[in-house]
Amino acid sequence: MSADKSKITIAIDGTAGVGKSSVGKAVALKYGISFLSTGQMYRCLGWKVLEKGIDLNDEAAVIKAAKEIVWGFERQADSSLKVLIDGQYLGSKLLLEETGRAASKVSAIAQARNIITQKQKDLGRAGGIVMEGRDIGTVICPQAPLKIYLTAAPEARAQRRVKQLEQEGQKADYGEILASIKSRDERDSTRAVAPLKPAKDALIIDTSNMSLEQVIFRVLEAAAKVW
Ligand code: DC
Repeated sequence: MSADKSKITIAIDGTAGVGKSSVGKAVALKYGISFLSTGQMYRCLGWKVLEKGIDLNDEAAVIKAAKEIVWGFERQADSSLKVLIDGQYLGSKLLLEETGRAASKVSAIAQARNIITQKQKDLGRAGGIVMEGRDIGTVICPQAPLKIYLTAAPEARAQRRVKQLEQEGQKADYGEILASIKSRDERDSTRAVAPLKPAKDALIIDTSNMSLEQVIFRVLEAAAKVW
């Protein structure tokens, strides 16, 4: 509709390993706007907590660590925002299984979450961004005119992850990956604060039997109806 797409906000939510980042990045590139994988911020906090030897169950210490973080965001050529924690980019450390597990745990602590979501709400309000996470459509950007919720069977996601790891020349244990995906789903969708769920007006796409290109096409199709 409007010619100016520089301020649009698109919310993408869904389970772990469903392809939210690949889809979000492609859509952001198409519109020349930024892409933020919001889980990166929880991963940064999770990593910091592990690195400082803080007990993940010590909520007060986790909240203190969250408060002390100085966040930075750097736009990359592929449209994604690189998240800096205290001036440092954590790179491959962000992708470690233990960082992901710690992220999932710290993200369930309400006050630690509040600190991070405040920052994310500011980014969403400024616009010109595709944000990907678990609560973007429900909590961070309820005002976003386009909300997408991606889902896929855990088995389909585990298979994709195995393929990805093998392509990178890494070892992959399907059973272990499947178990990890299932337990992450369970924790993310049953927690008390901002559990993973689609916004009422979200477009739900089951990607189990879709290629990445097909999913991107569906999202762009939906976006073209809004803007
Ligand atoms: O998307 P991810 O795997 O990088 O996210 C890591 C963890 O952070 C995930 O288990 C749940 C949490 N998370 C969240 O609670 N809310 C978000 N918007 C994004 C991630």
